[in-house]
This record gives sequence, C-alpha cells and structure tokens, in this order.
Amino acid sequence: MRISVIGCGHLGASHAAAMAELGHEVIGVEIDPDKCAVLNTGKSWFYEAGLDDLLARHVPTGRLRFTTDPGAAAAFADLHFIATGTPLREDGRGYDATQVVSAIETLVPLIDRPATIVGKSTVTVGTVATLQRIVTANAKVAGVELVWNPEFLREGHAVQDSLFPDRILVGLTTAAARAAIEEVYAPITARGDIEMVVTDPQTAEVAKAAANSYLAAKISYINAVAEVCDLTGANVDDVAHVMGIDKRIGHAGMRPGLGYGGGCLPKDVAAFAYAAGEMGAAGAAGLLDSVQAVNRGRQYAAVALITQALNSDVCGRTIAFLGGAFKAGTSDVRDSPALRLADRLHQLGATVRLFDPEAQDNARRTHPHLAFADSALDATHEADLVVIATEWPAFTTDPKLPADAAEHVTTRTVVDVRNALDAGPWLAAGWTVHQLGRPTRTPTA
Ligand SMILES: NC(=O)c1ccc[n+]([C@@H]2O[C@H](COP(=O)([O-])OP(=O)(O)OC[C@H]3O[C@@H](n4cnc5c(N)ncnc54)[C@H](O)[C@@H]3O)[C@@H](O)[C@H]2O)c1
Repeated sequence: MRISVIGCGHLGASHAAAMAELGHEVIGVEIDPDKCAVLNTGKSWFYEAGLDDLLARHVPTGRLRFTTDPGAAAAFADLHFIATGTPLREDGRGYDATQVVSAIETLVPLIDRPATIVGKSTVTVGTVATLQRIVTANAKVAGVELVWNPEFLREGHAVQDSLFPDRILVGLTTAAARAAIEEVYAPITARGDIEMVVTDPQTAEVAKAAANSYLAAKISYINAVAEVCDLTGANVDDVAHVMGIDKRIGHAGMRPGLGYGGGCLPKDVAAFAYAAGEMGAAGAAGLLDSVQAVNRGRQYAAVALITQALNSDVCGRTIAFLGGAFKAGTSDVRDSPALRLADRLHQLGATVRLFDPEAQDNARRTHPHLAFADSALDATHEADLVVIATEWPAFTTDPKLPADAAEHVTTRTVVDVRNALDAGPWLAAGWTVHQLGRPTRTPTA
C-alpha cells in the first residue's frame, strides 16, 4: 500500500520504518528540514534501538523516503498516518493539539482522491470529533475518512513494538475506513496472534489515556510502597516480587525507583487528570492527581537517600552521575527523572559529573550547567559518590565498572535510584550499595 507518515519524530520515524519493513511504500513528512535531511541519509536523528537498521535497509531502495512537502504525500499516498506531537499545554490544561490540527488542515485540501487519515497521536477524548469537522470543512473531494489509531509502543522498543504490537486499537465510524485499516495492518494481523479492536473514536481515545495512566499508576503504587519500606526496613524488591506472583498483579512495571518520565506518561496522566476533572469525574481526577504527587516525590526520596549515603549534605561534593535519558534504550531526555535529579543536586551545590551512552548530547543541550564526562569511568574520577540514574546495562550489569571505578573514587558508595543494579560485583569490589526502598548493603568480605 502507498502510505504517508506525517511527523517523523520518536513515534513517526519508527512507524514509517516499520511500515516499510512490512512491505508498504512509505513517504514520511517532517516539517523540520534538519531532521528530514538526516532521515534521508538512512539514519535517525535520535537513538532508538534497531531503528537505524531499518532505515539503512529501506531508504536506499526508495521504499522509504522523507520530505518536508505535504503535497508530495497527498499526491503519493492513499492512507496518511498523523504522528505529530501533542505536548502538554503550558498552563497544564490538557494537550496542545496545534501540531495535529495544523497537519490535518494542511494535508486535507491537498488530497485529490478518496483517502484515509489515520491519527496515531495521543489526544483528549472529544478531539477526533473536532478533527472530523475540520476534515469535512477542508476536503476538496468525497471519501476522505478520519480514523483514530492510538499508538502503544514503548520507546526503547519502538521498532519491535511497531512490528509486533500487543494489540491494534482503532476508533472509526465507516466501512470504508475499516477496510483501509484492515489493509494497512494486514501484514501484522495475518500472523493471527494479535487482536485488532475496532471501536468508536471516543472509546479509542479513552482507552489510550486509561492504559497509559494505569501504567503510571502501577509505577507510583510500587513507589508509594517503597516509601513504606524505607520507613520499616522492609525490602521493596521482595515485596514487589511477592505481589507480582499474583497473576492479577504481574511483575511488569513493578520496579521501584525515580518514577516515570519521558514524552508520554507525564503529559498523558496530567491531561487525563485535567479532562476528568473538567467533566466532573472526581474519582478519576483524584486518583490521577495522587499518581502524579507520588511521582513528583521520588526526586526528594532520591535526594534523601543520597544525603544519607554521603553522611552529609551534598553541597561541595562530587557526584558521578550515570544516566540522563528518561529510560534505557533511548536518547530521549523529555521530562527525564534522571536529569531532574541531576538538576536538583546541582542546585544544592554538588558538582554533578554526568555520562549517558546515548543521551549525552541532548543532556548537554538541555542542561549545559552540569559537568559532563567522556565515559562512565571518567565520571567517577575522584567522585564522592556514584549515582545510577538510568538503567543502562553498561551501568547496571557490567562487572568491570565497579572494579575499575573502585580505583578512581574517594569513597566506594553507589546509590542506585532505579533499583536495577546487579549488586554482587559492586559489593565484591568493596562498594556500599544504597537503593530506594531497600536496606543498605555493605561490602562482602
Ligand atoms: N514517543 C513515543 O514513544 C510515543 C508512543 C505512543 C504515542 N505517542 C504519541 O505520538 C505523538 C508524537 O510523539 P513523539 O514522541 O513522536 O513526538 P516528537 O516531538 O518526537 O515528534 C513529532 C514530530 O512531528 C513533527 N511535526 C510537527 N508538526 C508537523 C507537521 N505539520 N508536518 C510534519 N511534521 C510535523 C515535529 O517536527 C516532530 O519531529 C504524541 O501524541 C505522543 O503522545 C508517542
């Protein structure tokens, strides 16, 4: 099928590449000429595991190409995915839908034959109805359909999740739209192992918001339990394990730490909380406000743990700070809990020496006042403390790092605010290990 993807950011570039991999002919439209130029070299402008491999495979053959010109997409494609951003409004009152509205207002008048527009961006309930009116008002031909197809991919697994999604959710109202969606996703549904849920647009909108908010709630729940563990001497990892054995609870998303971040969960929970409050769903709004309050509190819990580990306040101390990405597997630093913590420690007077294997340039751009190291080992040079702030395997499971870093630091103290560390090699190399919600562990003989 000939398709376009409008907006080639973290979602759109991954989706465009996956669609090419599934056999479609794809044109990506990206308004930013610099991002577009990079994508046309067969590489991504951000790090996402496996994405460069797909771009390198499909850009040189012409199966996948990128342009800044929406007219080229209108002329080429019969189905148009919309993957532009929906950031939180500056006043916090729900999403700023400007990018989505503008993409649709630009594209629709350029379409000269029946076509299907498929929104993937995350939007508030009621947005699709508004966009449908915009499509109807701007269409020059009959048969321009609007469908909403919320995306559930996880950054760091975007390629895998696009090719092998858990489910496909579509909100639509006509048989023609359904036929187009079934055709574009046929290479996935033909495998017979995933469910395509076809529903009305408002159900699709609420289902996406509800799913992301549930994931955030699960993270905040185990973090709230970690607070109790800190006060009682209980071990939150064991508590989470016991809870997760229950099939109704499960282990996924049950790792306590700094809380959720990134370009999706924080804004999606905030927007859903705001929308629920506005429509008078007081229970939902209150619950989601608590989820957010617990998440905000994680930074203070981390500072308290670091202070306890140093046995003094952080002012004047040097901290090797490993991690800047909001999670491992991506270079994305949007709403990164790691950078928020680094910033707080800097404000409190610490010298924060940061290293991240993929997000270093983005962190340097957004937080130029921090110090930066060329490697994890370099960051530990004469440091008073090591903080593991993003769960990259190079920090958490590489047995060489604790042994090598032990020779560089003034004190062998590591604070793992992601609860992801394989502590054995650190303890064996003489380190004291602190984690949120767990008793401190001292070196093994
Ligand atoms: N990032 C994810 O993992 C993810 C997962 C699920 C859902 N989503 C949702 O997908 C949407 C996009 O998220 P993202 O993280 O990819 O954002 P992003 O900011 O990384 O990407 C958006 C891209 O759209 C481009 N753009 C804006 N207006 C345009 C226009 N008129 N024409 C062409 N390009 C335009 C921007 O330059 C940018 O590159 C959001 O609604 C988000 O909530 C994202």
